[in-house]
Amino acid sequence: MELMEGLLTRRSIRQYTHQQVDQSDITDIVKAGMYAPSARNQQIWEFVIVTDKNKLAQLSDGSPTAPMAKNAAFAVIVCADQDRATAGEYWEQDCAAAMENMLLACHAKGIGAVWVGMHPHEDRENVAKKVCAIPEKIKVHSLMIAGYPEKNAQEAQRFHPEFIHQNEWGN
Ligand SMILES: Cc1cc2nc3c(=O)[nH]c(=O)nc-3n(C[C@H](O)[C@H](O)[C@H](O)COP(=O)(O)O)c2cc1C
Repeated sequence: MELMEGLLTRRSIRQYTHQQVDQSDITDIVKAGMYAPSARNQQIWEFVIVTDKNKLAQLSDGSPTAPMAKNAAFAVIVCADQDRATAGEYWEQDCAAAMENMLLACHAKGIGAVWVGMHPHEDRENVAKKVCAIPEKIKVHSLMIAGYPEKNAQEAQRFHPEFIHQNEWGN
């Protein structure tokens, strides 16, 4: 898939078939996350891949906005380790960039995925920490839930020229 086409056709997918996703594809997807830009190239991220069905169900049960985890092929928890920070105040932006790269990598492979926000909801972060034994000092940013899509998503129409300003606001 051509990059621009992928950017314009990606949608959140929340219903999945029972088909498993190959581990090599999951690794490629996380690799795409690691190629995201980051502040001072700090690459502060850590990724927890979840394929265990019990753990996916626990993430689903414990996260009010992630019921689809129980039917997913896999999930990835995007975390940050401040011990490796060189521009730690940017950890959220770095993790968000990694998440978007992973969503696009999923789309390129015909895998459907959705970004589930966790930080700054401590209760949601704590569910992920408990289910996956993530150390207390690690920050949990977000959860990507993924699997082969049950149906094709409609393309979005989001181009709004009026949101663009050139040289000065209002122009
Ligand atoms: C920071 C963030 C948090 C989100 N959290 C959730 C969530 O908890 N549950 C969910 O189903 N979708 C979540 N989404 C997905 C959005 O609902 C989705 O991206 C938005 O509705 C636009 O739809 P699209 O992704 O299909 O283009 C989140 C997206 C972002 C960027």
